Amino acid sequence: MPDFAIGESDFLLDGKPFQIISGALHYFRIHPDQWADRIEKARLMGLNTIETYVPWNAHSPRRGVFDTSGMLDLELFLRRVAEAGLHAIVRPGPYICAEWDNGGLPAWLFREPGVGVRRYEPQYLAAVGEYLTEVLRIVRPLQTDQGGPVLLLQVENEYGAFGNDSTYLKWLVELFRAQGITVPLVTVDQPEDEMLSAGGIDGVHRTGSFGSRSVERLATLRNHQPTGPLMCMEFWDGWFDDWGGPHHTTSATEAATELDALLATGASVNIYMVHGGTNFGLTNGANDKGVYRPTVTSYDYDAPLDEAGRPTAKFHAFRDVIARHAPVPPLPDFPEPGAAPEITATLGEPIRLLDRPDSWGTWRGHDSLPTLDDIDAQFALYRTSLDLEGSPILQLGEVRDRAQVFLDGDPVGVLSRADHDRAITLPRGRGRLDLIVEDQGRVNYGPRIGEPKGLIGPLQVGATTPASWQTLAIDLNAVPELWTATLPTTAGVGPTAYRAAFSLTEATDLFVRTDAWGKGFAWVNGFCLGRYWHRGPQHTLYIPGPVLRAGANELVVLELDTLPDPAVRFSTVPDLGPTEY
Ligand code: GLA
Repeated sequence: MPDFAIGESDFLLDGKPFQIISGALHYFRIHPDQWADRIEKARLMGLNTIETYVPWNAHSPRRGVFDTSGMLDLELFLRRVAEAGLHAIVRPGPYICAEWDNGGLPAWLFREPGVGVRRYEPQYLAAVGEYLTEVLRIVRPLQTDQGGPVLLLQVENEYGAFGNDSTYLKWLVELFRAQGITVPLVTVDQPEDEMLSAGGIDGVHRTGSFGSRSVERLATLRNHQPTGPLMCMEFWDGWFDDWGGPHHTTSATEAATELDALLATGASVNIYMVHGGTNFGLTNGANDKGVYRPTVTSYDYDAPLDEAGRPTAKFHAFRDVIARHAPVPPLPDFPEPGAAPEITATLGEPIRLLDRPDSWGTWRGHDSLPTLDDIDAQFALYRTSLDLEGSPILQLGEVRDRAQVFLDGDPVGVLSRADHDRAITLPRGRGRLDLIVEDQGRVNYGPRIGEPKGLIGPLQVGATTPASWQTLAIDLNAVPELWTATLPTTAGVGPTAYRAAFSLTEATDLFVRTDAWGKGFAWVNGFCLGRYWHRGPQHTLYIPGPVLRAGANELVVLELDTLPDPAVRFSTVPDLGPTEY
């Protein structure tokens, strides 16, 4: 069996020095029918290894569940890597950051009173133990020393930026070993002395995360990892976007020059990302360093392979650099994207949430204000009735993350966490008060990870606290099914589902343009493409070819605000928005 080890100065594969030239590909951000294509293109760029995180919350939406179906089939993904003749690195967290909802930590974890995440705390450790047992059961037989592709695993993620509980890190290492992980383990930290000190532990090889000033950063890493190979576990070659911000790009030439400098030192690298993919569904994370900034749906990352897996200028620049340090395979011709098919489709048959709420979920009663976590929803209608004088002010502790306010079905306004909104004046004090609340993605970095979502109290209207509430938790997965049991309404204000039929001669990758829409979610043939928002930067949503069909297809849109133009436009190229404000 091949043997992979950490030597005095190098990684050693079968006893010979081995420079890892890896790229990050997140299986959970790519349609499984496209894994082989993306892996093959990564190989053609000259990579010898593919790295992936494992998202705990996606595999375990509820405690005791470990879903490995479809896009979550980690074993199949690793087998695809092996079939391409590449090695693999697995980073199962438990925390992964990654611009992923809650940094991968399940929301249910935080509902246990007294739980202490990312530290040596019994309730947390028990849950982590259950999760890692499942993941490592998959990875164990796929390690290099068992004939599989997995060279090494990472424990935790940039732990030194969060805490300094070495007992916790040691416990994790022991768990990995107890579960039969025999290949080397590493930690990763940003190349700051305090972070490398707090995030590393003796006996586990330290690596760094950075995208510039590589030689200097490797020197800092060397101070903390005196022997063995140096590795940049995250060579940031682009960046992610927030709603309302610019689309981030980096110069292909400058990124390639930096990669050249890094590889010339002999260090190993994991390019983050070689292909970013898409935050399908409601999986995006967010940042909040004083201002809440949810991450967009596209995770293109300005990576060498774009969101549709097509090689970019950065792909060719990186391949040319890698060719100076390692053999690269010959390149085939890559087809150019064709013209968008002529498709005429119109969104129609509206079903307005406030007209047919009973079709969208089941009502529950509460004698105090629940959070979205209490009702297990990411999108919900909150309802109460008011009987007050005048035009009272509605105020609350915080809105997480966006609430549309209606009085007797008439729109009053929007409370947005990103704008620090905490109060709104109601036009009158009597009537049915509805708040339609969206969790726009949990923070994935820093202290606000794990906080409850929804309307956070105290909530007051005038001087009173509403005595009772009704909630309607909306299962967004069921929105494409609404028409089977519900008659259309008239189009109107507030959240409304629409659908459009369209026909294709072949099922190839497409983008749907979203710039004529407001804000909401879209599905094709029941597959949730993710969120759209007119504020951009992105104005297209990626539709993977495998979810399309030759023949009849269906687009469903849940528009929260307004849909001024029902015509649907498709494109074969993305529009990720302006790169500057
Ligand atoms: C850090 C994290 C990654 C990711 C990047 C930014 O390095 O470790 O998970 O969040 O930042 O893309």
